[in-house]
Parts: sequence; C-alpha cells; structure tokens
Amino acid sequence: MLGTLTITPSGDACGAQVQGVSLAEPLDDATFAAVSTAFADHGVLVFRDQHLSETDQIRFTARFGEPDVYVLSEYRAPAHPEILLITNIQEDGHNIGLADAGTTWHTDSSYLPVPPHATVLYAREVPVEDGRVLGDTLFTSTAAAYDALPDALKNGLEDLVSVHSYYGKHAARAALGRSDRKAPKRDEERALQPVEHPLVRTHPVSGRKALYVAQGECVGIVGMPDDEAKALIDELSQHVIDERFHYRHHWALHDLVIWDNCQLQHLAIKDYALPLRRLMHRTQVKGTRPY
Ligand code: OGA
Ligand code: MN
Repeated sequence: MLGTLTITPSGDACGAQVQGVSLAEPLDDATFAAVSTAFADHGVLVFRDQHLSETDQIRFTARFGEPDVYVLSEYRAPAHPEILLITNIQEDGHNIGLADAGTTWHTDSSYLPVPPHATVLYAREVPVEDGRVLGDTLFTSTAAAYDALPDALKNGLEDLVSVHSYYGKHAARAALGRSDRKAPKRDEERALQPVEHPLVRTHPVSGRKALYVAQGECVGIVGMPDDEAKALIDELSQHVIDERFHYRHHWALHDLVIWDNCQLQHLAIKDYALPLRRLMHRTQVKGTRPY
C-alpha cells in the first residue's frame, strides 16, 4: 500500500478512480476487499501511474479470480499466454496484436459459453498528438440501462434468450471497415460456435440486473422470428449505448483499467493511426456462465 486508499467515483453512471495503491506489490486483504467492493459498485476502476511487469499484471488479475486465456492464440504475449496484445503496432507489415479490438460497442467475448467476468487493460504505449493522448475508451452501464427501462418492457424481456456469435460481431465490424483480423485457426473454430445467453443477466456479485445484448454479436432471439428479433436487438442495443449511461476513459501512459463485463459494454475510439503507436496489455478474469 502507498498512502491512503481513496476511491473517487467518476460521477457518471459507471467508473471510479482508485488512488493510494501500488499494483506492483501484492494487495493485502483489507485493500483488496475495498477494491473489490468498489469494482462491483462502479464497474470500471482506474489506477493511474502504475509501473508493472507482466507478472505484476497477472498477479493483480488473479486477485479477482482465475486468469483466463484469450480464445485466439495468435496475439498472446510470448512469455505469458494470459497476456493478450491489443495494439496497432506492426512488424514486417503484420499486426503483432489485435488491432481491431473494441471498435464496435460490445462486452468481451460474449460469444463464448463462459465469457470473462472482468478485463484488465494496462497502457504501455499511448498515441500522442499535439500533446493530447488519443484512443479513449468509452464505457456504458448496461445495469443503469436496464434500470431505466419501463417495467412493462422489463417484464417482457425477463425470460428471453439471445444468440451470440463471434462471426456476427466480426462481420459487423468488417462491414464498417473496422476489422482486419485473420480468420481463427481451425481448432479454434469449434470454440467459436454461436452460444445462448439470457438477454437480462444477473450480476454474480451484486445481484443487479443488466441488459446483455449488443448489435452485431447478437444474431437472434430463441423462438422469435428473425425480423422481430433483429428489431428488438437493435432497439435495446441503441438504448444501452445512450450517453446518459457512459463513462469516457481518457488514457494516460501507465494507466491500468479493470472493467466488469457483467454490467458494462465498451467501445475503443480509433482516432489515431500509425506512426502513432498504442500498446495495451490485456488480461482477463474467468467468469461464470451468465444467468
Ligand atoms: C478490449 C477492448 C478497448 C480499447 O481490449 O477488449 O475492447 O480501447 N479494448 O483498447
Ligand atoms: Mn473489448
């Protein structure tokens, strides 16, 4: 611990900053308990000015649960498969990491049967133009979005199950010119078959309900005709990303941000390009099957 632990809510529908803690050291139980409560309450926690090795980041991630390994093997850090490179950096004309991560509103890996509970992103290089850091990340509270629905609609959504698809999401990104990733390897395709999740999920820690639906990756609703399902998915997805539920993270070098996929969606703002480089190290915490 460094000084006094302080949690400062952003004042928006989600997000808080945590000060007085160095993540380069193991967190004691009291500190972790406070961080963990703040995480369930605010959904996004920002730790500024952290100087971390890869193992420091993995140790911090492991405090929240078992670190998960991203489903595609292509862009893992060589020494630590738990770390996924999110970057626009290229070597010999090839991306060294995922260059299109987060370019449409989404929640991480909802196309898996058991999506990660949390995602951690640590800023190792940030793109700077005229003294300003580019590449903000927007978050929206899917829990606040659920709360804001009229009761009649909430009741109507209660038992709906939607279908999430990796290919749906990346086709939607490609259609917007925002995806340039390679096709998954043959043996990874099996892990990427469409999955079913409740459209309204219950937070495994707080019990709070949240909408679990995003355009592109949600390709249908079980038992509903396609045109009707698409209209409902579109309507709810638009509602979720309404500005009143947002927190906008403006990155600084060495920020570490952790977000909760059970109560948020996020979007990467791609307002920079090479030669401006952005390099993020991403880790994830294993989740439980959404219910
Ligand atoms: C991700 C992601 C957003 C960003 O890593 O899952 O969506 O701003 N990243 O890099
Ligand atoms: Mn993401």
